[in-house]
Order: sequence, then C-alpha cells, then structure tokens
Amino acid sequence: TRTPVNVTVTGAAGQIGYALLFRIASGHLLGADVPVKLRLLEIPQGLKAAEGTAMELDDCAFPLLRGIEITDDPNVGFDGANVALLVGARPRTKGMERGDLLEANGGIFKPQGKAINDHAADDIRVLVVGNPANTNALIAQAAAPDVPAERFTAMTRLDHNRAISQLAAKTGAAVSDIKRLTIWGNHSATQYPDIFHAEIAGKNAAETVNDEGWLADTFIPTVAKRGAAIIEARGASSAASAANAAIDHVYSWVNGTPAGDWTSMGIPSDGSYGVPEGLISSFPVTCKDGKYEIVQGLDINEFSRTRIDASVQELAEERDAVRGLGLI
Ligand code: NAI
Repeated sequence: TRTPVNVTVTGAAGQIGYALLFRIASGHLLGADVPVKLRLLEIPQGLKAAEGTAMELDDCAFPLLRGIEITDDPNVGFDGANVALLVGARPRTKGMERGDLLEANGGIFKPQGKAINDHAADDIRVLVVGNPANTNALIAQAAAPDVPAERFTAMTRLDHNRAISQLAAKTGAAVSDIKRLTIWGNHSATQYPDIFHAEIAGKNAAETVNDEGWLADTFIPTVAKRGAAIIEARGASSAASAANAAIDHVYSWVNGTPAGDWTSMGIPSDGSYGVPEGLISSFPVTCKDGKYEIVQGLDINEFSRTRIDASVQELAEERDAVRGLGLI
C-alpha cells in the first residue's frame, strides 16, 4: 500500500477550505488511489471552525483519508508536507491601500514560506490561492531559499476554466472540445485570456469566433471581472469554483496534462515571452512526470502583446512594492 501524501491547507476554516477539503479527501487532488493525510492550518480564531470541518470529514468515512491534524503553528502545519495549498490570506478591506494589503499578506506568506523551507518534505509543491496570489507566492518563495524556486506556483486555473466556459457558451461548443487556451500575467483584472492559439474541436478558436470586438469588449472583461460578478450575485466570493480550480491545478501538475492540450499556471518566469525572469506570471504550460514546462514558440500578435505587457507590468510593480517593504 502507498504511503499517504501529506497535504497542508491554510485557511482551512474559510469558504474555499470548506469546498476544498472534501474533494482532497475523496481523491480528486492526486488520484483515486492515493491516500492522503490532511493538515489544517488556521489562525487561532479559526481553529474551532476547522475542528468542525474535521468532524465532518471524519463523518464521510473517506477510504483515502488517513488522518487530520489541526494547528495554528506553521512549523507544525508544514512539517513533512508534500503539497501545500496556501488559501488563507488577508482580504482588502475598505480604505486599505495596496501597500497595506501587501504588507498584511507579507505577514502571512513570509513566515509560511520560512516554515515550508524548514519543515516541508523534499518534494514539496506549493499552490498559492490567497490574493494577491502571484505576489504572495513570490513572498513565500523568497522566504524559502532551500526549496527549488519552481515549486512555488500561483493559481490562474479558475480564470482558465472561466475562459473555457465563456468560449464554449459563445460558440456552442462543448467545454471538452476546447483546448490550448491560455491565461497570461497576473491573477487580477489585468490578466489576459488568449484564444489565438486555442482550438475548438481542432479548429483555431479566434478564427472560429472571428469577432475581435467580442474578444476585446465582452470576452476579456467578462473573464477578468467574473470574480466581482460572482460576489455581486452570491454575496460572497467564488468558493466552490476556486476550490475546483485548485484541485485541477495540482492534479495537472502531479499527473500531467493531456496530449495535445495545455493549461495555465502562475509560475516563476524563466524570461520566456519577454516576461522578466523571476516574476510569478501565468503562462501556457504542459505537465509531465510531476514537472511543468512553458509552451514555447507561440506567435504573439500585437493584440496579445499589449495585453500581456500590461499585466506583466502590474506584476513588476507589485514585486517592486514588496521589495520596497523588505518582504522579498
Ligand atoms: P475566507 O475569508 O472565507 O477564509 C480565509 C480563511 O483563512 C479564514 O478562515 C482565516 O481565518 C484564514 N486565515 C487567515 N490568515 C491565516 C493565516 N495566517 N494562516 C492560516 N489561515 C489563515 O476566504 P475564502 O473565500 O476562502 O478565500 C481565501 C482566499 O482565496 C482569498 O484571499 C481570496 O481572495 C482568494 N481567492 C483566490 C482565487 C484565485 O483564483 N486565485 C479565487 C477566489 C478566491
């Protein structure tokens, strides 16, 4: 029998945590034959609710779930962790400046990065979900110099899935017919969902749509502002869809992307496509044998170049801001 994989979830008592933990425990994160041990990391105020969630996890009698530990100490929470899902973050509240937001999150992701550095397993893989996800990932990465830099990733899979769904609705295609879509840049309103290399049932998506007005004025803003639209409708931010995307991200990373397709992940840039090295930016990636690789050689047209550059510029500004705060 396989040794269980240790999965740490921060912000476990939050709404994404509630949607995420049951799917991890039922085998969707890593595979239906992989046993898991869960570590729930919360702040002291969240411990009681996390205990309630753990009771419910017990009550599911999941065959793959081999243990649950709850803690408010990052050193315990990340001890021996193979996969870390960093969900808990400090949301922007009214009147908060960007600098305040970055500083508050630095207070979370810097110590967590350090704890990962000191206590996680050698094969640790980190996915940052908590916003601002790309820059929080950069902060955690900088605090973990002994962990290979490429193990720190940020989630743009929800944007990727949203874009597929919008494109399917526009064209009447099945979501399973849509391949090679890309989210570039930051998980923010500047992100760029790119359909110029995407395929719908084997045909080029941009040519199939053949409507640049729709692309610029409907598709891109709908995907980029979907989070706000969900808050408006639901009265709370995306939770189940965010949890689903986190599951997809790690599953692809560990188990690979299907032949002929790729996905989008926020990963440290190697300088590809003019994205400055080290920025954690979303790229088209294929995954194989537990590693991801940036898809190379795509032609970037003028329409895409402007939008990628704008989002990358925002990432560079966020990096400079956290550098100015001494967080990286
Ligand atoms: P939530 O407020 O329901 O839960 C957050 C939880 O994190 C709370 O239980 C809180 O106690 C906990 N927490 C705060 N600081 C912590 C720390 N230092 N260590 C451990 N736990 C800590 O929020 P929700 O809805 O679950 O969202 C979580 C984050 O995910 C937010 O930052 C949100 O903006 C982000 N998000 C990201 C998406 C993406 O696509 N990348 C999509 C949707 C949400």
